[in-house]
Amino acid sequence: MKIGIDKIGFYTPHLYVDMNNLAVARGVEPEKFTIGIGQDEMAIAPLTQDPVTLAANAALQILDENDREKIDFVMFGTESGIDHSKSAAIYVHELLGLSPHARSIEMKQACYGGTAAIQLAKGHIALNPESKVLVLASDIARYGLQTSGEVTQGAGAVAVLISAEPGVLELENISTFLTKDIMDFWRPTYSDVAFVDGKFSNEQYMAFFSEVWEEYKKKTDLTISDFEAICYHLPYTKMGLKALRTILDEGSEEVQKRLSENFQASTLYSRKVGNIYTASLYLSLISLLEEQDLEAGSRIGLFSYGSGAVGEFFSGILQPNYREFLSVDTHKDNFNSRTEVTVTEYESIFQKTLPIDGSTMELDTSQDPAPICLSGIKDHERQYINKHK
Ligand code: CAA
Repeated sequence: MKIGIDKIGFYTPHLYVDMNNLAVARGVEPEKFTIGIGQDEMAIAPLTQDPVTLAANAALQILDENDREKIDFVMFGTESGIDHSKSAAIYVHELLGLSPHARSIEMKQACYGGTAAIQLAKGHIALNPESKVLVLASDIARYGLQTSGEVTQGAGAVAVLISAEPGVLELENISTFLTKDIMDFWRPTYSDVAFVDGKFSNEQYMAFFSEVWEEYKKKTDLTISDFEAICYHLPYTKMGLKALRTILDEGSEEVQKRLSENFQASTLYSRKVGNIYTASLYLSLISLLEEQDLEAGSRIGLFSYGSGAVGEFFSGILQPNYREFLSVDTHKDNFNSRTEVTVTEYESIFQKTLPIDGSTMELDTSQDPAPICLSGIKDHERQYINKHK
């Protein structure tokens, strides 16, 4: 039985800042951000969008009635969750009107949370081939104004439907993974911004990639030429490029050209969104599939990295007619209808927060084009609305 990605969608909020403008405001050369880091625009979440609404908006695009009935497991990978106890999956379950006969849980291991959910979903489908699993990966990356990590912030979510006989990508069974206890990036429960040792995190990303890639080749007897493309977790697009470059010379000139071109296609969406932690690897997969015309049957490699740290290399095979299962127009509309904000406006949005003393705040959702929004908070309970209901 084939198990894999049946449908895949993403959502990014309607506001963004241009990295050239951010560079000027921070007194650095724009090329450092656009070439050295490899980011053009950074998505900004208004207060009316949080990880729950971003995920719900991503899932709304891909689910039909049949999916809603068959989903019996919702897994929400995030590292910017809104509650230490209740899972974000339950809010999305309600907002989407899914069957009550479903499990709903949250997964955490930094940016690896989405991949962990997908791998567990495979096991669930193997035991329950008739059911479907909704995997959500959603994050708002915050390092703080005027920090070196600021340029690698972002906001967005990916929704992945895992099923038997998938429409988009059959996930192959062999994968290689690695855990090491390191402090490259973390966010203590009392902080709303991440702590990071930037250079160390870059080194560890590369070291983890090298180790799982070597192990994967040993385990599978595959070589670089067996891959049409490799998608990377993209904290910023240059990071993935650096990792790809370390293995390119394992292939012929033709293979190097193919992998380099397909890598560029896989970075186009991330260049406009920024880091969305758990969802970044899957945003690069969506970008690749929607920006490049790959043949069915192609093998795609995927490298997932979550600081702290867990890394995994796995792969999938593109399915016949996979294009019919993509949401290309919806995603283009999402990008085309965004509004650019100035650096001053971005800073002001960044500093706005919900009250934490139990007082009531009502939010104006009329300026937010997303169907699902956070409309306020009352008695420490977030209030959500689905404008389509
Ligand atoms: N033109 C072109 N390139 C320029 C340039 C210019 N004018 N000026 C500088 N550059 C280049 C530099 O040469 C450098 O390139 P290389 O990395 O290829 O050498 C690049 O721009 C970045 O410059 P710096 O190293 O000086 O940048 P920095 O110290 O200000 O910060 C960062 C970079 C460490 C990534 C920082 O943004 C950060 O800490 N980000 C958050 C952590 C992160 O994303 N880590 C990634 C791995 S961890 C992970 O993957 C998990 C996760 O999602 C967080």
